[in-house]
Amino acid sequence: MTPASAGSRRIRKAVFPVAGLGTRFLPATKTVPKEMLPIVDRPLIQYAVDEAIEAGCDTLVFVTNRYKHAVADYFDKAYELEQKLERAGKTEQLELVRHVLPEGVRAIFVTQAEALGLGHAVLCAKPVIGDEPFAVLLPDDLIWNRRDGVQGDGALKQMADVSQAANASVIAIQDVPRDKTGSYGIVATEAFDGRQGRITRIVEKPAPDAAPSTLAVVGRYVLSPRIFDLLETTRPGAGGEIQLTDAIQALLAEEPVLAYRFQGTRFDCGTHIGLVEATIRHALDHEILSDQARRMMSEALAEMGVSDSE
Ligand code: UTP
Repeated sequence: MTPASAGSRRIRKAVFPVAGLGTRFLPATKTVPKEMLPIVDRPLIQYAVDEAIEAGCDTLVFVTNRYKHAVADYFDKAYELEQKLERAGKTEQLELVRHVLPEGVRAIFVTQAEALGLGHAVLCAKPVIGDEPFAVLLPDDLIWNRRDGVQGDGALKQMADVSQAANASVIAIQDVPRDKTGSYGIVATEAFDGRQGRITRIVEKPAPDAAPSTLAVVGRYVLSPRIFDLLETTRPGAGGEIQLTDAIQALLAEEPVLAYRFQGTRFDCGTHIGLVEATIRHALDHEILSDQARRMMSEALAEMGVSDSE
């Protein structure tokens, strides 16, 4: 794989690593996978899947574990439910259930037998991806590019365009406060123009005083398949896990990898407050719930003696 071929084709395949343990949401995640937690009426995984499809992906690879039947069940056909809805004449709900995946898009499930890290989870998708550039989406990073009711291109679509134009791998980044660098992969860049720049170094969870910048990696990647060879030789890193970040650091020596500051808002739904924030923002912007949600929020704040402008 040469750098020239790294981004020369449109990405068609997207990997969703969903085999993590989700310990931050215990006890809920004892039985409900984190990716199935809903924002209003749709699970987190659905938002990520829609973003991948919008970016042009038609093959979705879910890396799961033996406890995550709910993810596979969600994308499977629900015969009994569909029959009941059909008989009850509930056509709107029937359409929702039927179109979890549009026609022409296929879901493939691979198993990560042990949660050895994100890098290892991505490596599990190698037999399905083969030798072509592909996307990785972490569903607990929820990204919306919507302002005043107007929908812009999703983050992955933006990245696929950049990847194709530059023939390079692309990693989504955003600014974080310096005291938060220990929660992210952090990149150093050259010729960063405020929107994108070439990555010269990437470090997993550096302490604030050791971080090369405050540009943090969030869960969207467009990667060259060369990453698989590098992952095969990547040893456990931060937290004893096989880190995708370490394989990307190795990729930098061989191919261009761009950091891209996407347009849109990211909610870290891997944390309690991020999930709450996404839920509130979604409700406030929701076509049906919006008025009610705004009223409820104002009333709740007033009851607590907090004014709207605080
Ligand atoms: P996280 O670091 O968020 O871990 O993984 P987690 O297990 O999901 O959640 P917490 O921290 O215990 O609450 C980032 C992404 O990588 C996937 C996770 O499913 C999540 O999408 N992952 C992580 C795997 O698929 N396999 C792994 O071995 C580790």
